[in-house]
Amino acid sequence: MAISLNEKYLKKFLSDSEVDKIWPQVEAAHKTIYEKSGYGNDFLGWVDLPFNYDKEEYERVKAAAKRIRSNSKAVVVIGIGGSYLGARAAIEYIKSPFHNELDKESPDIYFAGNSISPAYLNGIIKLCDGKDLTVITVSKSGTTVEPGIAFRAFRKILNEKYGEAEAKKRIYCVTDKCRGALKKFADEQGFETFVIPDDVGGRYSMFTPGGLLPIAVAGVDIDELMRGAKDAAERYSKCDKDNACYRYAALRNILYRKGRSVEMLVGYEPALLQTAEWFKQLYGESEGKDQKGIFPASAIFSTDLHSLGQYIQDGSKIMFETVLNVENGGDDYYIEKVCGDFDGLNYLADRGMSEVNRKAYEGTVLAHTAGNTPNIIINVPGMSAYDYGCLIYFFEKAAGISGYMLGVNPFDQPGVESYKKNMFALLGKKGFEDMREKLEKELGE
Ligand code: PA5
Repeated sequence: MAISLNEKYLKKFLSDSEVDKIWPQVEAAHKTIYEKSGYGNDFLGWVDLPFNYDKEEYERVKAAAKRIRSNSKAVVVIGIGGSYLGARAAIEYIKSPFHNELDKESPDIYFAGNSISPAYLNGIIKLCDGKDLTVITVSKSGTTVEPGIAFRAFRKILNEKYGEAEAKKRIYCVTDKCRGALKKFADEQGFETFVIPDDVGGRYSMFTPGGLLPIAVAGVDIDELMRGAKDAAERYSKCDKDNACYRYAALRNILYRKGRSVEMLVGYEPALLQTAEWFKQLYGESEGKDQKGIFPASAIFSTDLHSLGQYIQDGSKIMFETVLNVENGGDDYYIEKVCGDFDGLNYLADRGMSEVNRKAYEGTVLAHTAGNTPNIIINVPGMSAYDYGCLIYFFEKAAGISGYMLGVNPFDQPGVESYKKNMFALLGKKGFEDMREKLEKELGE
């Protein structure tokens, strides 16, 4: 079963002729992707990754995951942005947000190096206390501040716990092929390394060891994940109007041009929470540049119907919703009848929560559409590794197509450098002295 689009709730907002009109831009974007990819440049390596993955390295990923699962009770995955979001999102969706608590066969997985909060880092250090530990650090450069600080902290912990020789066997680095500070350091120290290819950017790296190694450690069948990605890569390789991925890119661009500059990704499964974080990075970094771009936001319903729902229904008409409709969310829970019906919910007795969730979805789509918020529905068959591989590739390809349609380069992220330079200057990093003086004056120090 494949991902499909339901455009029924868009009818009053856009017409088929508008899709026809914009389609040459989809074709041009498609051509750009295929003309540029395959040459090891332009960060388009992800396009064919599901087909031409380095087999030897893939087997090493599986072997390392097996080893880690057998000798560790806790695994700390260190990374930020594209170097950690994908793995976290996949584990929560395919396994469970309660993976650590529920799966006693797998090590607990903690994500560190994704903030500069000492409270957060100290919390993870405490959670790992007394457990056999492995560290997977994912960083292309090896010089990013957040993962760098966490890596220092956990190397120290491993060295103290196991001694340097044993600690080295418990550190895995996913990084650049040959450049980069982490690669150099890992080789000097003798840590096992895996490669994020030069032509795959962080946010498109789910199907590299950056995503695959932690995902496999969590006990997910990565063969199935890759099979889903491969099927999706084949399915979305033709530029025709039945291509759901390309249609999605076209629809969101039409809505953007009609003034809908916020896209609210909506899920009815809490297991989609981290996927929404991954989505926001993918689209925010790919499209938000040159003073353009759809702002990616997210909500989990029905939770956020009790908060953001008000704005979506009645607030400024700046957004459209993209609803991830998971058709099979797994085991159901049946609601019991209670004596006295004190809460008035006995009309739900003997019905599954999945039915209630579905009716909430149907009712919300109708209400929001009536309130003039366009809804694109993406039907996702289920919550398996295969389904997830399809979904991730779907969004990656759509981001590439959509970015080119918007007239930006979807594969760079020049904007994220500005805050970094300021932070380096304010922290006194060598080479930023003049800037420091200027910024401190601005801050009034
Ligand atoms: O998507 C991206 O490229 C970024 O989010 C990076 O993954 C992030 O900045 C971390 O960089 P690095 O992998 O060099 O530590």
